[in-house]
Amino acid sequence: MIDIQQNSPLTLLQNLGFWRAGEIIKSTSVPGESNMNLVLRIETNLDSYILKQAKSYVRKYPQIAAPISRIEIEYQFLKQLDSNPFLASLSPKVLHYDAQNHLMLLEDLGEGSDFLSLYGGQRQLNSEEIQHLAEYLMHLHQLEITNFPATGSMRVLNHEHLFDFPFLEENGFDLDSIQPGLQEASMPYKTDAFLKQRIQALGNRYLTDGKVLMHGDYYPGSWLQVSSGIKIIDPEFGGLGDAEFDLGVFLAHLDLSEQAEELSAQVQKHYNLTVDWSLVQQYRGVEILRRLIGIAQLPLSLCLEAKKTLLARARTYLIS
Ligand SMILES: Nc1ncnc2c1ncn2[C@@H]1O[C@H](COP(=O)(O)OP(=O)(O)OP(=O)(O)O)[C@@H](O)[C@H]1O
Ligand SMILES: [Mg+2]
Repeated sequence: MIDIQQNSPLTLLQNLGFWRAGEIIKSTSVPGESNMNLVLRIETNLDSYILKQAKSYVRKYPQIAAPISRIEIEYQFLKQLDSNPFLASLSPKVLHYDAQNHLMLLEDLGEGSDFLSLYGGQRQLNSEEIQHLAEYLMHLHQLEITNFPATGSMRVLNHEHLFDFPFLEENGFDLDSIQPGLQEASMPYKTDAFLKQRIQALGNRYLTDGKVLMHGDYYPGSWLQVSSGIKIIDPEFGGLGDAEFDLGVFLAHLDLSEQAEELSAQVQKHYNLTVDWSLVQQYRGVEILRRLIGIAQLPLSLCLEAKKTLLARARTYLIS
């Protein structure tokens, strides 16, 4: 396998067997924050591309293993969008897929920024943005998918961090290192047998294939603001699952970024398909809990009291 590194010599990239006659790589740069994969912007004398390569580990934490098949899932997901012009216009086109080297060259959507800054609590999404984000899901969940590769290994990885690890009483993760007092605040959720039973049942459901193509990680880090609008990237946790999962994650992040209540109501209004909204609430609840007391922390600006309030609210989403 051609193992491209962030500072790799350009000759390695030149060997990819993709370039047009006379195309010469001029430079590479990092287009935005990424943890999981190697993501590079490649500028040539003719064009600009985004290269994404999966390794058998998390790029930022090489000691943590991660399924290398995630690049194939992302590839298959993006290919499915080709049949729907609306969806295809909102994600990068795949220009080259190299299964052997676990990499893809994607259309460069241009310089942009994700929406992680929402967690600073300084910014509200506007109605058009909410509508756009809800309509994307509505179209995605209506795609007719005939076959999609197995996504078990990625699902198992995500399952651990969503439904399992955050709720272990002794998981070795000292939440006080994130915020003093958070460890104690987390304990009621780690010792609540009834809640944990609910979460376990939901987790088992998450692990089984559902009926629709879900994005699988529909949160502000997967929304990219570029000059032509908001694009949706990074579907490596995608696959056949519950529409309710994407909706629950979406709504959870509106809560975590302190968006006005009415924006959540607008999501329901614009997502004009029949779904089980009580299941949405359950996924919403578990996503909030795991983002507050699990390992996948966010750049939140919430004080401890606000986190306690949100934890309690998440519990009500799961138990109603
Ligand atoms: N097609 C694209 N066009 C322009 N910029 C892009 C494109 N794809 C990715 N980027 C930029 O690169 C960043 C990282 O990409 P991406 O989120 O796909 O990587 P990742 O390794 O899966 O990240 P994570 O660790 O968050 O899962 C994005 O936040 C964005 O800034
Ligand atoms: Mg990713």
